[in-house]
Amino acid sequence: MEDHLTVGQAAELAGVTVRTLHHYDEIGLLRPSTRTVAGHRAYSAGDVERLREVLAYRRLGFGLREIADLVNDPTTDAVAHLRRLRGLLLDQRDRAAAMVTAIDRELEARAMGIRTTPAEQLRVFGAQLYDEIGSAYPATRRTEPRIAARIWDALGDARTVLNVGAGTGSYEPHDREVTAVEPSAVMRAQRPAGAAPCVAAAAESLPFEDQSFDAAMAVSTVHHWRDPVAGLRELRRVARRVVVFTYDAEDTGWGQRFWLTRDYLPEFADLLVGWPSLADLTRAIGGRAEPVLVPWDCADGFFEAYWRQPEAYLDEHVRRATSVWTRVGAQAEQRAVRSLHEDLSSGRWAERNRDLVALDAADLGLRLLVAGGDDGAAVTPART
Ligand SMILES: C[S@@+](CC[C@H](N)C(=O)[O-])C[C@H]1O[C@@H](n2cnc3c(N)ncnc32)[C@H](O)[C@@H]1O
Repeated sequence: MEDHLTVGQAAELAGVTVRTLHHYDEIGLLRPSTRTVAGHRAYSAGDVERLREVLAYRRLGFGLREIADLVNDPTTDAVAHLRRLRGLLLDQRDRAAAMVTAIDRELEARAMGIRTTPAEQLRVFGAQLYDEIGSAYPATRRTEPRIAARIWDALGDARTVLNVGAGTGSYEPHDREVTAVEPSAVMRAQRPAGAAPCVAAAAESLPFEDQSFDAAMAVSTVHHWRDPVAGLRELRRVARRVVVFTYDAEDTGWGQRFWLTRDYLPEFADLLVGWPSLADLTRAIGGRAEPVLVPWDCADGFFEAYWRQPEAYLDEHVRRATSVWTRVGAQAEQRAVRSLHEDLSSGRWAERNRDLVALDAADLGLRLLVAGGDDGAAVTPART
């Protein structure tokens, strides 16, 4: 009994009223497994785990009946619930970020005396991250040939290739038969004329039969997926070979090395909380990971691209083309940019990062995951 919580303790820790817990008990949603000798409700570790699931689903807006179905599902264990909750919360965070962006846009328009149409006003509620920020993408996001070469090498002799989270198609090889998958209508609309056919779908549920493609690739997209491990398993299901360009969220070494997140935007670390480890990602496809160094003059303006050109981050176009800046929120962004601007003007940045000038490429945690294929073990090693 010692390790059990009383109803008062459980309510206080969870930030709900005792009445709420009584109600959950009465409707059978959460029945504490035991009672004290005095007949009071006592919550075991298992009850507390279930309470956490109930409250998290509640916070996400699920109704009590729906929650009962979810937590009573015998095929879903605590880890599966945590993964699902995490994905739903990330989705909620991204939608909130997208709504803020849409509202900012309307405020700007109003300040200039432009009235938004009723359709534009309602769009805020259906806002998806890449439907809001996607139009800024082409300004700086394009193929980096040295990284493209690594990806195309890793595709081996694959003739048919599925590109998941394809965006505008920056890394699609032109000498193979490519099918793209992209959930954002704004991104699909920006694919150049003549680009590979694109299906509106998400990685977690690919509308293709098992082993339909020689290879599947995913570039700079896995961190946006609601459930990265489920998505990667889908890639493996539909293709014999899988090539993924992503980053290692656990490596504190590179985290400390990148001055932007270390000195100006520590909030970046919050975005990585709960992110699957590189080992989890690699295991999901049954493959291995290779480092990809970022060249100092990287042509693709992803978040880490300008590690040797710090002034670039002062440019609004550069920031709007990567999701990190929207996800950390306007306050963190403004503070980081102001502080970087001051340090560039005073020479403090140059002093602190003197050693970077001598580097042509840096390991900032970007990784190429490769799995499957007959020559899976013989993929060309890093040459960036
Ligand atoms: C940073 S962009 C990368 C686009 C492209 N692969 C490239 O390298 O230029 C990330 C893309 O992932 C897409 N995305 C977000 N969630 C996704 C999901 N669940 N499944 C597949 N793609 C997704 C976004 O819509 C966006 O186009």
